[in-house]
Order: sequence, then structure tokens, then C-alpha cells
Amino acid sequence: MLMFFRHRHTMGNETVAIRHGPGRDRATDARRYWQVRMDSLRLAEPLTAEDCAAQSMPDASPAKWHLAHTTWFFEQFVLRPHVPDYPVFDVDYEYLFNSYYDAVGERHPRPERGLLTRPPLARVIDYRVHVDEHLQRLLADEDVPAAVLDLGLNHEQQHQELMLTDVKHLFSRNPLEPVYRRDRPAVAGDAHERAPPEWSHCKGGLHEIGADTGSRFCFDNETPRHRVWIDPYRLAHRPVTNGEFREFVRDGGYDQPLLWLSDGWATARREGWRRPLYWSEALDSEFTLGGRRELDPDSPVCHVSYYEADAFARWAGARLPTEAEWELAAADQTVEGSLLGSMTLHPGPARERGTLAQLFGDVWEWTASPYVPYPGFVTVEGALGEYNGKFMSNQMVLRGGSCATPAGHVRASYRNFFPPQARWQFSGLRLAANP
Ligand SMILES: [Fe+2]
Repeated sequence: MLMFFRHRHTMGNETVAIRHGPGRDRATDARRYWQVRMDSLRLAEPLTAEDCAAQSMPDASPAKWHLAHTTWFFEQFVLRPHVPDYPVFDVDYEYLFNSYYDAVGERHPRPERGLLTRPPLARVIDYRVHVDEHLQRLLADEDVPAAVLDLGLNHEQQHQELMLTDVKHLFSRNPLEPVYRRDRPAVAGDAHERAPPEWSHCKGGLHEIGADTGSRFCFDNETPRHRVWIDPYRLAHRPVTNGEFREFVRDGGYDQPLLWLSDGWATARREGWRRPLYWSEALDSEFTLGGRRELDPDSPVCHVSYYEADAFARWAGARLPTEAEWELAAADQTVEGSLLGSMTLHPGPARERGTLAQLFGDVWEWTASPYVPYPGFVTVEGALGEYNGKFMSNQMVLRGGSCATPAGHVRASYRNFFPPQARWQFSGLRLAANP
């Protein structure tokens, strides 16, 4: 198994024990590396240098910072430990582009990433070229620890999604409402989707969830696979739509305290929430990466917080699924849907009826589960042990990926996580209910 954290990983001059497993070869690794690195640059292509430098809020980062930080990750965790004479590109970058690795050292404050007008974007691109050249040489000359390479590539894919959601938030704050990609097709549903959602009836019982052992990469937070007891439940065939959520808004959903968790009610009042993040006040349009568009009632609602998802579910007489319920339903589904590969850059309506649809892609689905370690979870030694484990408090799990998640990055056991008040990700919901 190429799962990263099952193996002892150390930094400094010690080497990681993992070498290429069956079915891996240097040429394949080099191609994958190049593909992922080029994907990041392609996502930045529609942006100006000014776009790349700005930061719209503390939770978001400038595109330039994403491009540099993902490069720093390869420099810090692959090149420095494994290339004895590796020439560090710029010693200051460890401070500027370390995200949260306390074991590595001090770092620039996250809310001030937008102040980094220097280094200029061109210098960050030079940094990428420098690291890419040394990484390609390493891949050609000797086996790179597969687990660390996989982690670096999956890490960069996570930042690709963040780059898009951060740019969307940045552009939404500009009165000109800039368009990221003008050529994105507008997707609209048809009237049949306005029928109430159908449900899958799940028997429940004793099941296993978590990443399976095998040849595929997974993050440490998906392990270990373990048994869970699941009572019988129902799961909606599709995510909640804009049309359904608009009914909640028009019914005064944001004004009914009994629908809300205490923290959610306080947050909604404090922040002045009256509708999903990018909706117009008239509830008839929304800001997208393709510009402002008419609100499609059949497409999944997105950019709602956990608190709003939870209040909607209560209003609808249902609830959010637990992550175990979601994974049990998704375990035998093919991982396909509107992911970043399709480049719609916005969720679209369900195409199938009478079956579970859109579990993967379109919108991340909030679950009722707090982000906590699975039974038996162990973090790895060293700085990379900080990757996931230290965030296991005060956040909720989301499942399934979104229209901004790179194809091939997500799977049934994948656990995304955000604080319950987060709204700027492509986050929606699917209803669950007791039988
Ligand atoms: Fe990161």
C-alpha cells in the first residue's frame, strides 16, 4: 500500500523506507509529477499578476502564495532530505511559504499573505522551475520515496481547489465582478428535477468504513479501516437544490431561531447571513467563476456553511447524514461526476433519476460528523505528522468532492474538513432521514 502514514517517515538526512512498489516506474511518476504541476499553472493562466497577489480574507490565500507553497512542500519534504547537495532556491522562502508546520519553524502570519508583493510572481515561477528541474532529475536518477511524492502531488491538488475557491471569493469582492473563465458552459436543469427528491433505503448493520489497503494513495485521516454500527436510514438521491433552498429562505428560514444550532444562530446574526454566500439579494442570481448567472433552481445549492445546511435539514424535516452513512452509500459507486476535469467550475443538475446521483463532484456534502480520529489512528513522526492530525477538533467532515476537485483526487473514504462557519468552499448538502 502506498498510503503515506502507515510507514515511518522522518526528515533531515534520514531516508524514508518506502521505494517504488509494484506497478510504479520512474517514467510514470515523472509524467504524473509534470501533469499535476502544469495543472496548477494552467489554473493560474486566466489571472493577472495583481489577481495572484491579493488576499480577500484571512481564510483565503493569494494564488501566488499557493503556487509558491506547493513548491516549498516539494523542496522541504522531498528535495532537501533526499538530494544531499540540493541548492535551496531562497532561504527566506521557508519562512514565507511554510503554511502550518510548527516542527519546521516560524512562519509569516496567514492573514498577511496578501502583503507579500515581493517576491514578484515571476520570481515564484522561477522558484517552481528550479524545484521542478531538481525533482525531475531526482526522479530520473533514483527512486523517489513513493509515499512522499504521492503526498506532495495530492497536497498540490488540494491547493488547486483552494486556488479556485480563493479566486472566486476575491473576485466576488470586486464591484466589477470579474470573470475567471468566460467560456464555461452554463448548466441548467429541466423541470423534472423540481419534484421532491427520491430516497434510497439503506438497511444498515455492522459495516467497515475507512480506506482499504491496496495500491492506491490515501491520506492518514482515512485510516484505519474499522467497524461501525449503522442503524437503518434513508439518503436522498441528489443534493439539495437552489430551488429548495430558496423556499427555505422565502419561508423565513434565516429568521427562525428554533431551526438553528446556538452557535449557528449567533454566527448568522453576527455576520448578517440572509442567503447562501454568492446569491443576489433578490434570490435570482449567483456569482460564479463564469461571472454572474441566473440562479438555476435545479442545480445543487452551494457555498452554505454547516450551520445553514443543518438548519435547512431541520426545516425540511430531515437531517444531515453521518459520514459513515454517506460512505456506506458511496462505497460501491463509481467515482465519476462533475469534477475539475470537466471544467464546468460550477455545480450542475442531477442527470439521473431513480438512483443515487452526484455523490462525487458538484458540491462537497456536509455531514453530521465531527472531524475526529478514527479508532486506532496514529500520526507519523516528524513534521508531516502535522498534515492532518492536529486539525481534529472544531471542524466538520464533508464528503464527495466538488466541481473544483481535481479528477482522480477523491474517493469514497476521502474526508474533507472545514470549520462549521466556512462558506467559501463549494459546500452543499444531501438530506438523510430515519426510515
Ligand atoms: Fe498546504
